[in-house]
Amino acid sequence: MTTTILRGRVLSFIEEPQARDDTGAFVFIEDGAVEIEAGRVVRVGAYRPVAGAVVKDHSGKLILPGFIDTHIHFPQMQVIGAYAAALLEWLNTYTFVEEQRFADSGHATRIASRFFDELIRHGTTTAAAYCSVHPQSVDAFFTEAEKRDMLMVAGKVMMDRNAPAALLDTAQSGYDDSKALIGRWHGKGRAHYAITPRFAITSTPAQMEAAETLKREFPDLHVQTHVSENLAEIAYANALYPNYGDYVGIYEKYHLLGPKTLLGHAIHLSERETDVLAETGSIAVFCPTSNLFIGSGLFDYDRLHARGVRIATATDVGGGSSYSMLRTMDEGYKVMQLRGQRLMPFRSFYHLTLGNARALGLEDRIGRIAPGYDADIVVLDSRATPQMRLRMETVDSLEQELFLLQTCGDDRAVVETYVRGEPLKSGLAEQAA
Ligand code: GUN
Ligand code: ZN
Repeated sequence: MTTTILRGRVLSFIEEPQARDDTGAFVFIEDGAVEIEAGRVVRVGAYRPVAGAVVKDHSGKLILPGFIDTHIHFPQMQVIGAYAAALLEWLNTYTFVEEQRFADSGHATRIASRFFDELIRHGTTTAAAYCSVHPQSVDAFFTEAEKRDMLMVAGKVMMDRNAPAALLDTAQSGYDDSKALIGRWHGKGRAHYAITPRFAITSTPAQMEAAETLKREFPDLHVQTHVSENLAEIAYANALYPNYGDYVGIYEKYHLLGPKTLLGHAIHLSERETDVLAETGSIAVFCPTSNLFIGSGLFDYDRLHARGVRIATATDVGGGSSYSMLRTMDEGYKVMQLRGQRLMPFRSFYHLTLGNARALGLEDRIGRIAPGYDADIVVLDSRATPQMRLRMETVDSLEQELFLLQTCGDDRAVVETYVRGEPLKSGLAEQAA
C-alpha cells in the first residue's frame, strides 16, 4: 500500500481553547508529518523518511484539518451580493426566484460542479448544505460530492407556503421526497442526509408534523433550519404560529430540536429560547458575513457560550458573501468586537476544524489530524500575498500567525486541499465553463 506523507507544520486541536495560552488544547509539530494510507491518517509526528512513501513537501506551510462549513445554500451561488434592505426582501426578490432554476437538473448539475470547486478552492472539505425544494437538486449535489469523495450533509428544503408556487412542495410530497432521498443517499459513501424544513415561515403546521415524523423515523439524521435571524422574520413566524410562545418554541413543539439540530443564525433569542437550545443540545450557527451583509444583527457569542449553547460557524452563502471560512472568522471576530467580546485566534481555528466537526457530531471522523481520521486536510500559506509576506516579518508566534491568516487570508492562502488524501485544489480546472 502506498503511503503518502504531508510534510509541514501540523496543527490539530484536541479541545476547545479556554484561554489565549491554552497550549494543551492543540498539537503543533513544527517539522511534522502526516502519514496517509487509503485515505486515512495512520501516523502524525515528527517528519521522518519512510521507504517507498510519496512525500508532499509543504515545509513552512501550516497543515490543518480541512475546514468545515456548517450552513451553506448550494442553489444560491448566483445570488451572492444581491442588493436588498433585509432578509425577507432578499429572499423574495432574489433567492426564491433563483432557486426555481434548480427544477432543471442540467442547471443543478452545472452549479453543483462549480459549488464543489469553490469549496475546494477555499479549503472547505465538509459542509452542511441546503439544496432547493427539488429532489433533483439533491441528486445533483450528492452525485458531485460522491465524485470527489467528500463528506457532506445536505437535504432538500421542505417549504409548502409563502413562496412562489414553483418553489413549493406539500406536506405529503415534502415528506415523500425527503424519504426517497434518505433511502437513495443517506449512508451512501460519505453522504449524510439532513431533514431540512427551510424555516417556520415557509412550512405549514402540517409540514412541520411531516418533518417531525421523519425525525422520529430517522432519529440519527441531522435537522437543519433557520431561527431568529431578523426582527421582521421573527414577528412573521410568531404571527403564523400564534400559540407556540416564541420562535424556538415552534421547533420545540415539533420535536425538531436536539444534538443533531443546526439552527442557522439564532441572533435574537430570548432567555427562554436560549435555555431551550442549551437543554436540548441544539446548535446555534453563527453566520457572520451573512448577518452583516443582510443587516440581520450581531450574534451574541459570549452570552450563548456562557449559557452552555453549542456554537458552530458558517458562511451561509449566498446570504453570506464569501466561501472562505477564514473570511467568515474574520467577520465573526469583528461582530464580537462590536459587542465588546473577544474571539481568541486559537478558538477561531478550533471552530473551523474540531469545533464544527463536533457540532455535526462527526468528531470521530473529521476535524482532527490523528490516526484513524479521514485525511481531509488543508494546507495554508501565511505569506500568500505581498502584504501578508511583509506582515509576517513582524509575526513571532503561532497565535499571531493564525490571526494574520484569519484577518488577511482567503482562498489565496489555501495552497492545497486534500480529500481522503487526494490533492484536489491543484487539480481544479482553472475556470470551468
Ligand atoms: N431563512 C430562510 N431561508 C433563508 C435563506 O436562504 N437564507 C437566509 N440567510 N435566511 C433564510
Ligand atoms: Zn441560511
